[in-house]
Amino acid sequence: MDTLLTPAQVEIRRKARDLAERHARPKAAEYDRTGEYPHDVMREIVRAGFMGIWIPKEYGGGGCGILETCLVVEELSRVCGGLGVAYSVNALGSFPIILGGTAEQKHRWLPRIASGADYIAFALSEKGAGSDAGGMKARASTDNGAYRIDGDKKWTTNAGVANLFTVFASTDPTKGTRGISAFEVERGTPGFAIGRREDTTGIRCVPIHETHFKACRIPAANRLGEEGKGFHLAMATLDRARPSVAAQALGLAQGALDLAAQFVAQRKQFGQAIAQFQAIQFMLADMDTQVQAARQLVYAAALAADRQEKDFSRLAAMAKLFASDTAMRVTTDAAQLFGGYGYVRDFPIEKFMRDAKITQIYEGTNQVQRIVIARALLKETEALIADPSRVIVRPPE
Ligand code: CAA
Repeated sequence: MDTLLTPAQVEIRRKARDLAERHARPKAAEYDRTGEYPHDVMREIVRAGFMGIWIPKEYGGGGCGILETCLVVEELSRVCGGLGVAYSVNALGSFPIILGGTAEQKHRWLPRIASGADYIAFALSEKGAGSDAGGMKARASTDNGAYRIDGDKKWTTNAGVANLFTVFASTDPTKGTRGISAFEVERGTPGFAIGRREDTTGIRCVPIHETHFKACRIPAANRLGEEGKGFHLAMATLDRARPSVAAQALGLAQGALDLAAQFVAQRKQFGQAIAQFQAIQFMLADMDTQVQAARQLVYAAALAADRQEKDFSRLAAMAKLFASDTAMRVTTDAAQLFGGYGYVRDFPIEKFMRDAKITQIYEGTNQVQRIVIARALLKETEALIADPSRVIVRPPE
């Protein structure tokens, strides 16, 4: 597997694994139980230079790519899926600034993320606009050279701790997705309130809240990119962030497999370790194969995004789809291998199953990923068959 990585990337992964084992493994169950944000582990992440690893060096970041970010997310998630997203959601929140911000905006906000001084969140979804993100109702109207935001956002991951919020609202509801714009809103801005915290199944250490905007006035200088280009910015951001969700899923699957393999190698029934039974070995073999296949796709998607390859959006969707389905299957099978111990909180395995579920849902459900993949495939095919010399099969007339 290392053949895919440069020596510098292997070193990042080693450092991230060491950090996760030393600082997160001993606390993961407690954070899950209490729902407390992992401030101390996040401080270690900052100290290790991983916070803002995806941010260009000129803005105080690590100047690395999506692949390096994924390696860190994978290793954190191998120990705790909640920690993986507590870290990676900062990339999701800051990509719109990196992609759409002016140099002044980048200097204003990115160093705060890169230094760990502030966390950032991404507020796109609403109660009535999940998969149909373009159907949002939040409105941003011009108000004496400023913007006034009104509306309610849902599922704002990190909202409980973030100081910066990348918020999407419509500046022209008559234009649908072409009327959506992106803004940066600071915590504490009058009219902006953090609402109810969600009581989630997994990733319980990450504070996911509703967020509310009522006559929330922000300077025009806080708009990211052109008016009406916010939906494009959101989609371009998700293309770059989905490999990280895939990496979170991959880490969870690997972490569950590691635990299950150790458990069955020691657990004795019928006079021998249950790993001696072929039924168990076949399960392990399938899990291991699926995890390795997911890893290839995740790294390939991350690399394609870093190289800005033509089709990286499709690969990112594939990685997210495949790795999260793998995570759900592998973590469920891992719990199965623990028998009754897989269903109680005395053992760490059931948490992996709970943490894995969200990876099939957020940053676009796996049904949305299929839409992205199928659209890209059919667009490519239609371009191909427009040239008769390239048609290799025709249906009967
Ligand atoms: N990059 C740039 N632009 C893109 C794009 C992309 N990948 N995909 C679409 N666009 C552009 C289109 O070109 C089109 O532009 P024009 O109008 O200028 O032609 C515009 O966006 C609208 O495109 P569509 O007609 O394809 O849009 P749609 O309404 O059919 O939606 C969708 C497509 C793929 C379903 C999209 O709505 C989507 O991705 N939905 C899921 C949203 C999502 O992932 N939400 C996650 C929330 S964040 C979260 O979960 C974070 C968390 O908690 C951690």
